[in-house]
Amino acid sequence: LGNVLWSVAPKLVRYTSSTRDAGSFTRKVAVLGASGGIGQPLSLLLKLSPLISDLSLYDIQHTKGVGADLSHIETRAKVKAYVGQEQLADALKGMELVLIPAGVPRKPGMTRDDLFNTNATIVADLVSSCAKNCPRALIAIIANPVNSTVPIAAEIMKHHGVYDEKKVIGVTTLDVVRAATFVAEAKGLDPTRVFVPVIGGHSGNTIIPLLSQLSPPVSFSKQELDSLTKRIQNAGTEVVEAKAGTGSATLSMAHAAARFTFSVLEALGGKEGVVECGYILSKETEFKYFATPLSFTRNGVERSHGIGKLSEYETKLMEEAKSELNSNIKKGEEFAKAYL
Ligand code: NAI
Repeated sequence: LGNVLWSVAPKLVRYTSSTRDAGSFTRKVAVLGASGGIGQPLSLLLKLSPLISDLSLYDIQHTKGVGADLSHIETRAKVKAYVGQEQLADALKGMELVLIPAGVPRKPGMTRDDLFNTNATIVADLVSSCAKNCPRALIAIIANPVNSTVPIAAEIMKHHGVYDEKKVIGVTTLDVVRAATFVAEAKGLDPTRVFVPVIGGHSGNTIIPLLSQLSPPVSFSKQELDSLTKRIQNAGTEVVEAKAGTGSATLSMAHAAARFTFSVLEALGGKEGVVECGYILSKETEFKYFATPLSFTRNGVERSHGIGKLSEYETKLMEEAKSELNSNIKKGEEFAKAYL
């Protein structure tokens, strides 16, 4: 797995490019929750990209201002702002990629699952509208708890008869970004040249970094494994506590979602060898939904690279993830059943 993935590092995100023929693979992208802590910086990063022709900003509040502001930037992407539920359908028509960072973030002391009651309905409503207005778009879900919101989205698309398992993906890129940063810090490496596959889910001990499959290969003591694994699993909480009640990761998440978006858009445009981790309906393990490194093509996810050969340490992490991940998935599916 490590060798395959070496091709994806270095993974510097290029926001602008003078050499790309932007006309040949520009794309229509929507951000739902565009006025939020993630939505605003994410929309800014997307506006800077030559890969995007049309940027559709939707939120239940403040999108007119965000849209007017971004529309003054001298890049090609045309920005349109939509506010309130009656404008949601128009925001989605013709979209090829829909990013969903809508929903409440954590406060200190909260788990991602504590967000379920509010965010499950928000995601279900937004995905229902995607099913009706842009059924072929790739849907990238950022709203937490991702472990449950992705099964909800899948069930809703299924209900409308438009589910394509290659196109409903939970964004776990921030876990990969953090893992590379922390490993590089600990080992004195260039973070842009480090790739750590992160598998599993996106909450606490369901986040499983595969440090044995690192590119470039590096060895760790048991103590280093413990402290790096814990830090990667709890990195979101590190930010929630530092922000002391004002929110969770927004800037690093905006970067992670932009990185994911650009990778997907390049693949939709025909680039080969595009790999990013993502949480998706999966046959790789006993878990129905699971994050693995994924290859993307013109049609979305082409294939999963699987989990590779796990170390004894990582096998134990899989065991520890079991009950939480399974119950998060079940909770999402049960919610969808009651919602539909
Ligand atoms: P925020 O509260 O700053 O922004 C959320 C935005 O969603 C607000 O502008 C709000 O008006 C909007 N919104 C609420 N209901 C909506 C609806 N029905 N339709 C459209 N927009 C709606 O929150 P923030 O910090 O941007 O976080 C958003 C979500 O992303 C949270 O659920 C958070 O837990 C999650 N998150 C996920 C990460 C990941 O790695 N996947 C990392 C960090 C956060």
